[in-house]
Amino acid sequence: MTGTLLGSLDPAWSAADPAALSPGHAVRLAELETLDAALAALYGRGASVLAGAPDAGALRERHTALLGRERGVVTLALAELPKLPPEQRRARGRGLNLVKRWLGEVHDARREALEHEREAAGALDVTLPGRRPWLGRPHVLAQVRDELLDLFHGLGFSVYTSPEVELDEYNFGKLNFAPDHPARDAHDTYFVNPEVVLRTHTSPGWVRAMEELKPPMRLVFPGRVYRAEATDASHMDQFHQIDGLYVDRNVSMADLKATLHTFARAIYRADLPTRIIPIYFPFVEPGVQMDVQCVRCEGTGRVSDAEGEKRCPVCKGTKWVEVLGAGMVHPNVFRAVGIDPEEWTGFAFGMGLERIAMGRHGIPEIRLFLENDVRFLRQF
Ligand code: DAH
Repeated sequence: MTGTLLGSLDPAWSAADPAALSPGHAVRLAELETLDAALAALYGRGASVLAGAPDAGALRERHTALLGRERGVVTLALAELPKLPPEQRRARGRGLNLVKRWLGEVHDARREALEHEREAAGALDVTLPGRRPWLGRPHVLAQVRDELLDLFHGLGFSVYTSPEVELDEYNFGKLNFAPDHPARDAHDTYFVNPEVVLRTHTSPGWVRAMEELKPPMRLVFPGRVYRAEATDASHMDQFHQIDGLYVDRNVSMADLKATLHTFARAIYRADLPTRIIPIYFPFVEPGVQMDVQCVRCEGTGRVSDAEGEKRCPVCKGTKWVEVLGAGMVHPNVFRAVGIDPEEWTGFAFGMGLERIAMGRHGIPEIRLFLENDVRFLRQF
């Protein structure tokens, strides 16, 4: 009988002393010994393999073999009872029911112990180094902007912000644009209505600042600007600029040149050649453009790659790259804001952030700035 009962229990199963799980184990075992040696053997072995189950899976497997509702050893033995002679039936039935209940208790105790072990394993170990959370970072354009603001702050400039949705009068009129100037053309400007536009540059900030504040003033105007342009690798219909304005007595072109030079040395490299050439902007007189030597071709206008030598694609062979517009504030602009151009003088400059970032990092495509693809953003 012992052989039949233990036959379906795998002899390779790990065993452990059930005493820790079931304090009454020894007493129960002794009680079964006096009742039925075969049942005592079944209970002893069953309790040991349940107590020794290494994990929840093994415990479930052993529970099924012992107490499973269809093929469990105890279930099958109970089903055999009617075949026994009546005088044996009673004692066996009582013994089997005890085995069933006690094995069930050992099983439950082992399951609980395993759960506790699992919880303890998952508990917080405060001595482990922390997991570093994923950190964002400033957008590459914000980095360039902040670096510029820092630089100009060091030169005594404060930040002044003005609306992106701007009066035509501020975007153009008070900046001395002639009424038929091509920049007012509907092809370049987003009109909200005939008097209101999306600002096409950050220069209208000076007009607002000069109407609000009294000279002397030294201000920078960072912000987003809009132009109705066809999109390509270097054009988008929105981008970023920083303008600067310095108004005081006796401001000269020499002050402007020194400021622009400081800018170029800090943002590019100290020995990168620059040049200042005349150019027309309605709001400055004289107006200039500052170029830096092309970094891609090092001022030769030619580059060579695997296919051979060719014209530099960055400067288009001109050896120079335009970085900003600047000039001495036009007397008409001073008059438009009620500042006497006989008493006050000033210079102004304006630059595009995308162009600076693209030049510095070799970014080939302006649309990347707005796509918010982290594979691009996390490179900076
Ligand atoms: N606002 C001009 C533009 O967007 C750039 C510019 C030129 C700004 C000369 C200035 C300046 O402040 O003095 O094209």
